[in-house]
Amino acid sequence: MSKIFWTGVFFLMSTLFALSKENPTDVITVVTNHLNMVFTVSDKGKVIYHYFGRKLDDYSGFTGRHYANRPDTPDEFASEIYPAYGGRYYTEPALQITHADGLLTTDLVYSKHSSKNIDSNVTETVIELKDKLYPVIINIHLKAYKKENVICQFVSVINDGKKDIQLGRFYSAYLPLQKRSYYLTHFHGTWATEMQMAEEQLLPGIKKIESKKGVKTTQSENPSFLLSVNSPATEDAGEVYAGSLAWSGNYALSFELDEAGILNVLGGMNPFLSEYSLAPNQVFSTPEMVLTYSDSGKGQISRNYHDWARKYAMAHGDRLHPIVLNSWEGAYFSFDENTITGMVDKAAEFGIEMFVLDDGWFGNKHPRNGDNAGLGDWQTNKEKLPRGINYLAEYTHSKGMRFGIWIEPEMVNPKSELAEKHPEWIVKSGKREILTMRNQWLLDLSNPQVQDFIVKTFDDVVALSPYISYIKWDANRHVDNIGSEYLPAGKQTHFWIDYTKGLYSVYERIRAKHPDIMIQLCSSGGGRLDFGALKFHDEYWASDNTSPLDRIFIQYGSNLFFPAIATASHVSTAPNHQTGAITPLKFRFDVAMSGRLGMEMQPKDIKGDEIDFTKEAIKNYKLIRPIVQLGDLYRLVSPYEGSGWASHMYVAKDKKEAVLFAYSLKYHNRTMSFNIKMSGLDPHKKYKIRELNRKYDSVLDNNDTFTGDFLMTAGLNLNVKSLNESAVILLTEI
Ligand code: DGJ
Repeated sequence: MSKIFWTGVFFLMSTLFALSKENPTDVITVVTNHLNMVFTVSDKGKVIYHYFGRKLDDYSGFTGRHYANRPDTPDEFASEIYPAYGGRYYTEPALQITHADGLLTTDLVYSKHSSKNIDSNVTETVIELKDKLYPVIINIHLKAYKKENVICQFVSVINDGKKDIQLGRFYSAYLPLQKRSYYLTHFHGTWATEMQMAEEQLLPGIKKIESKKGVKTTQSENPSFLLSVNSPATEDAGEVYAGSLAWSGNYALSFELDEAGILNVLGGMNPFLSEYSLAPNQVFSTPEMVLTYSDSGKGQISRNYHDWARKYAMAHGDRLHPIVLNSWEGAYFSFDENTITGMVDKAAEFGIEMFVLDDGWFGNKHPRNGDNAGLGDWQTNKEKLPRGINYLAEYTHSKGMRFGIWIEPEMVNPKSELAEKHPEWIVKSGKREILTMRNQWLLDLSNPQVQDFIVKTFDDVVALSPYISYIKWDANRHVDNIGSEYLPAGKQTHFWIDYTKGLYSVYERIRAKHPDIMIQLCSSGGGRLDFGALKFHDEYWASDNTSPLDRIFIQYGSNLFFPAIATASHVSTAPNHQTGAITPLKFRFDVAMSGRLGMEMQPKDIKGDEIDFTKEAIKNYKLIRPIVQLGDLYRLVSPYEGSGWASHMYVAKDKKEAVLFAYSLKYHNRTMSFNIKMSGLDPHKKYKIRELNRKYDSVLDNNDTFTGDFLMTAGLNLNVKSLNESAVILLTEI
């Protein structure tokens, strides 16, 4: 008792000292060009969360007041910056610690804070909290990106004592909002129907969005959300908060509307089966929650995320991404050298810039001729490809194209040399049956030997040819029946977190060695679509569903957060292999061209006049690519609106060019035309319109000119009215 007592006295004294020294009534603010967060320190040392929203120039209203959102109550009821379980327990806690002596409560008070400029755009504020009695330090990190109006929050917990402590909850961020009503937009789906949007009003109680799948965590729900307050926001009006958790493991978002009418938002790693023990001096860091806010609707939210992602949350977001032909749907597992060189020849003819050899190129003892064998054995299959990968890569290079290759390094087929050699590397729950999914097991990335193996796999595959400049990284199963032979019995609950941290450490090592390689993030399609993973990748495969009608919805959801430059979007064959849909090639191109264009089919299946159309569309994409990949997205008509139309546009940063995409999702009667009011243009500029991929006249007067004001106020009437009709219109300042 006496030891704890004196430790407590010490912390209390040092806290009081820090408070008086740092002037506790000072307001702590985190500022971007248009936003800020405001906190104050109360008399009792609590850091109170007052405000997040449009930039306030005058904070004085908060000074000296310790509770903004729960009036007439003592300050210990006010919303804290990071509520820990203990004290006046009110809502779901962001943190729960079981201290070394078994005590379950924590009482955090202000210790100090500091702020430093990382560069001219980024400032990091760190607010240090300490428990009043126990030796634990919590640092709240808030990184403000001025131009992009994004604030990233993460938390580190430091065990400053001499014995292990247990963390039961460890969210990244807490956000209390006091508004009249709340409308949550979130995303759900499954394989081939990722990122389906749903919007609902939040009523009292808790709404939870989470994943307990470990891998492929975003194929069902996504850890990104929009929250309109006071009324549902539109594209260009209304107050919207948004968050996206940069974490590729189990996550939880919790929205708790309490009896005071306050919405308590929490987001972070899912505490599910994840109690984490922290040794003395060990630091536990949470992933970043990427937050932004707009008082002018949802469109600005997306543009903030896109600007931020291109600069800070993806690889090579400032350079144009190449047009890809991926071999999967054109060849699956059945190919030889001739099949591939034939695809390369056609791709080069079409103007494609990168050829990617998908699954099926490896395994000799257990050849990868289907999904039931070979995974883990990363040696070129000698029967299919006797002259090796370098022959194909060099051939591709000789045709003026770059070469990429597929791997799935976290996985293993039971029928593989790797599984025979390293059964101890496989995720399993003791002696229970190891369940397969797509005939495969998962490697235990909490084990450093497995991490080394994956880094070596990547190195070895890249070394197969100096012409390899792109890797497609796939992951086709989730985790069930967890268990690690590497982790000790008392730390099995570390598995979920250590798997993802192991994955990130692998990514970091790979990126340090191969900074220029393009890497595609794929997990059976959009199973790993989060900013935590995207940071190490150049792009993501949004879905195995390439059917244009479905892609319009999938890309609509994905592009609310993730930019077009990173959205691999491929033209595939008809009937579509997933949905059976038969659609015109033009419609398939017109949809794929609004992301990072590619193809996903046997190119020799394109015949007759479709050959010239394909060449023309690819040429057109090169024309609009800088606008699509580096410009600003304006959504004009949502496919969810129910009108049977959808439309969006990209506008170049200097507003000299723009490209409009318009789609008809159903048959409208023949007297109707699609009136579209544009957005984001300069009202004073004059634009010439030119229809691309023209098959029929969507625009009556091609080459006509209009002012930005006219296009944004009166709009254009387009002849796009039958199912699967579409138009792509380039606008150029004259
Ligand atoms: C799932 C991916 O989403 C596909 O694009 C393809 O790469 C297959 N895996 C290969 O097994």
